[in-house]
Amino acid sequence: MLKIKEDELVHLIDKKGRRYQISLKASSSFSFSHGMISHDDIIGLEEGSTVKSSLGEKVVVVRPTLAEYISKMRKGSQIIYSKDIAAILMLSDIFPGAKVLEAGTGSGALTMALLRAVGRDGEVVSYERRGEFSEVARKNIENFFGKVGSAGKEGSGTLILKGKDIYEGIEEEELDRIILDLPEPWRVLKHVEQTLRNGGILLCYNPTVLQIYKLSRRLELKYERSFRVMGIYEVSMRGWEIKGRSMRPEHKMIAHTGFIFVARKWHPAIANSF
Ligand SMILES: C[S@@+](CC[C@H](N)C(=O)[O-])C[C@H]1O[C@@H](n2cnc3c(N)ncnc32)[C@H](O)[C@@H]1O
Repeated sequence: MLKIKEDELVHLIDKKGRRYQISLKASSSFSFSHGMISHDDIIGLEEGSTVKSSLGEKVVVVRPTLAEYISKMRKGSQIIYSKDIAAILMLSDIFPGAKVLEAGTGSGALTMALLRAVGRDGEVVSYERRGEFSEVARKNIENFFGKVGSAGKEGSGTLILKGKDIYEGIEEEELDRIILDLPEPWRVLKHVEQTLRNGGILLCYNPTVLQIYKLSRRLELKYERSFRVMGIYEVSMRGWEIKGRSMRPEHKMIAHTGFIFVARKWHPAIANSF
């Protein structure tokens, strides 16, 4: 049984489903409207156990899932929602050991999912041109995975954060995957063509169809020999509730968020003979 240890991040969930996130430190305590809980009472427990506050309120202790952590973490920029992150990982076929380049880092939501998917032998390089967003992302990521720059906790990969403008170029080579979440991905195509390995996958995430149209056109007109479009997607996810005999979709849903554009790099010699 994996007992909860000091320095771990946990969520305390009360009767109404409210969550409180704490990082466990010996001899510290957590105060909320239902009293106080000593961290020492949590350290050593099994995940899913309950603990009682000084005022008798019971809370359940769990390690947050990555999606739960992302929804609570500090946001600098608009993040990619978990429903889209899940699809991005599959559509770009992120695999253990992959070398992935991402831009922009933003708040680090997608970065974290990439780091976990590439595993201990993989590497994620993430470009962000705004220093203040990089700092928010670094803190978010280190809070969950440990120090940036070395393979992290939970078998996650190595992360390199770069304060760079990707429109000016990509320093890495032979990349397995390139993932872009920024306003003008077509401005990166010439760098992607030079640095993505043959057979590698480019995935771009953009909120408006005009961006996707411009990207497709640029690809078709200037880079047709190098890339083949694999698909353009949008992800809908609708939650349902079951309360007694009432079973129905939730009233609110996150509707349109972004389009996912996927292309694969060809060997130019092969493109000629097709
Ligand atoms: C929508 S946010 C990315 C959110 C991120 N994917 C997440 O899930 O947290 C877009 C980010 O791209 C950055 N950005 C825009 N243009 C860029 C460029 N040319 N080079 C590097 N970063 C850029 C912005 O500063 C912003 O932080």
